Amino acid sequence: MTRKLFVTTALPYANANFHIGHIMEYTQADIWVRFQRMQKGTEVHFVCADDAHGAPIMIAAEKAGITPQQFVANIAGGRKQYLDGFHISFDNWHSTDGAENHELSKDIYLALRKNELIEVKTIEQFFDPEKSMFLPDRFIKGECPKCHSKDQYGDSCEVCGAVYTPTELINPFSVLTGATPILKTSEHYFFKLSDPRCVAFLEEWTQTPGRLQGEVLNKIKEWFTKDEEGNGGLGDWDISRDAPYFGIEIPDAPGKYFYVWLDAPIGYLASLKNYFGKTGRDYDAFMADPSVEQVHFIGKDITYFHTLFWPAMLHFSGRKTPNHVFVHGFLTVNGGEKMSKSRGTGLDPLKYLKLGLDAEHLRYYIAAKLNAKVEDLDFNPEDFVARINSDLVGKYINIASRAAGFLAKRFGGQLSADVGVEGQVLLDALRAHGAAIAELYEEREFGKALREIMGLADKVNEYVDANKPWELAKKEGADQVLQDVCSTCIEAFRVLTVYLKPVLPALAAKVEVFLNVAPLAFADAQKPLGAHTIGTYAHLMQRVDPKLLDALFEPPPAPKVIPGGEDLAPEIKIDDFSKVDLRIAKIVKAELVEGSDKLLRLTLDAGEGRLRNVFSGIRSAYPEPAALEGKLTVLVANLAPRKMKFGLSEGMVMAASHADEKANPGIFILEPHAGAQPGMRVR
Ligand code: 2FM
Ligand code: ZN
Repeated sequence: MTRKLFVTTALPYANANFHIGHIMEYTQADIWVRFQRMQKGTEVHFVCADDAHGAPIMIAAEKAGITPQQFVANIAGGRKQYLDGFHISFDNWHSTDGAENHELSKDIYLALRKNELIEVKTIEQFFDPEKSMFLPDRFIKGECPKCHSKDQYGDSCEVCGAVYTPTELINPFSVLTGATPILKTSEHYFFKLSDPRCVAFLEEWTQTPGRLQGEVLNKIKEWFTKDEEGNGGLGDWDISRDAPYFGIEIPDAPGKYFYVWLDAPIGYLASLKNYFGKTGRDYDAFMADPSVEQVHFIGKDITYFHTLFWPAMLHFSGRKTPNHVFVHGFLTVNGGEKMSKSRGTGLDPLKYLKLGLDAEHLRYYIAAKLNAKVEDLDFNPEDFVARINSDLVGKYINIASRAAGFLAKRFGGQLSADVGVEGQVLLDALRAHGAAIAELYEEREFGKALREIMGLADKVNEYVDANKPWELAKKEGADQVLQDVCSTCIEAFRVLTVYLKPVLPALAAKVEVFLNVAPLAFADAQKPLGAHTIGTYAHLMQRVDPKLLDALFEPPPAPKVIPGGEDLAPEIKIDDFSKVDLRIAKIVKAELVEGSDKLLRLTLDAGEGRLRNVFSGIRSAYPEPAALEGKLTVLVANLAPRKMKFGLSEGMVMAASHADEKANPGIFILEPHAGAQPGMRVR
């Protein structure tokens, strides 16, 4: 029977490049997928996409002076170098802002509404009056209500670990404008997860044997449980956000958008649909096929979304639910330290590639440490060097390099049709492990699979040591034995390559050329090559250079700190600086802005034969704005114009201030020495 698999990894937020955690997850899923692709007849579709929506991306784009779409496209453009670099073989990469996702999200929502699982409730939330927007928890800061640490986020304290709601913060302020947020009511749309139908369905769905890992099930049980007072249990889920928001507009609800986490997992379906559209396959037929297995690889932090909201959304919109949600732990460095760039413990995947470290070494190492549990995985540089140099290269690669030379020089690359009893016994033993290794791959017990394979490599090396081909080569009349021994080694190497191919795809491709064979499938381990002429041996894999690993973990140069002040921004090149066009401008007019206690409206003459309108947040320093009129200052003249509540701002006036404006007030606009003229460039 053909197996049909639809496999995904979590969709990464399109607000940053990949970090090592992404690469680890993709590697885990990619190994599993490549193993499945090596099964004859199995059909596998492996897709991912950028998770494009949400307030953080909208705000980051605004800061960068570009549209969110452009922002997401820029991040998406940087994905390929990582994916190709680490041999991650997605069949498709899409975006949750794609047309398929807009359509599917609306369809699913409307089906849930029809099923009476959507409810509108009025809630009270913090609102930034200056920015005219509701603030997500992460954009509100203040003093922790428990330990009184300053500058803590709206949802939890990083100092004492307390969890609270933003309204409990002492002296809250908006991260966006510094304004004090006000409470404001708004209508929100909720998915009724507490509906008895949802609870009953999810209880059954999560408990289905074989669907979820044991540890995940235990966690989920806690989420279902109500305490004695009837608190806890599954709560309704707020799926709407108010404009301005970068997302998908909710049908029949102008100004309301789906919360990013509603449309994110639907992006799995959207990416598959997009891929099927491009390759002429029937998406609806595929998704209606009960034999299709839908499999998601995710990190432990997003279990709730994938094991409760997601299956409920699918089921109650009349869709198939996932067959498996495979949850993994996090990657740590040197015994559990959390990855941190500033402390120099980060493992930057792009730096890894740029240093010329071998991507397959990292794949091998990650695989060697992975199991089917939700455990964290520790990267230890010494352990890394040992596993690559002693195991992978020392045990496996060496088998080929020891045998290939004799075969080429003495036998024209011809393998013996029959390798003799001792060789046959060894090869039979290697083949006998094929089914167990396959089972371990299937179960995501990659560490165990590699241990098993390295155990087999040990056996082959014992065989080499016992038969000493280098002595046979000098012995008269031992040609046949030499050819048999070397043929045994090459066949053993081929079998081991089959077993390692899901982890080491690029290496396996080189081996296929060297052995002069078609791409190896898993079952090929069981089929002897027999009399066959191999190609010429070319060097297959280098050892790791520990110096490169030192370089990898060398912390980035510390930013220079000005005593008592703000850290210096990262170094730039003169080309970077010359992108900024600074011009002398005359302040023709300076006025208060009605409705804003921060801004002044400046009318500037930058020698262009026209006047510019610029809003500047300097009101506190210039309560009598007319005093500025007639003075010269410095204007950032090629800054993209910005639409503000009060009108268009066409540039920025340069001013000095302390990093911590609240504690150290004062803003001072720049003024050139006498003689400067409007329009002159500052360089
Ligand atoms: O946690 C995250 O990085 C989310 N962007 C994952 C989304 S997974 C899926 F639902 F799209
Ligand atoms: Zn605290």
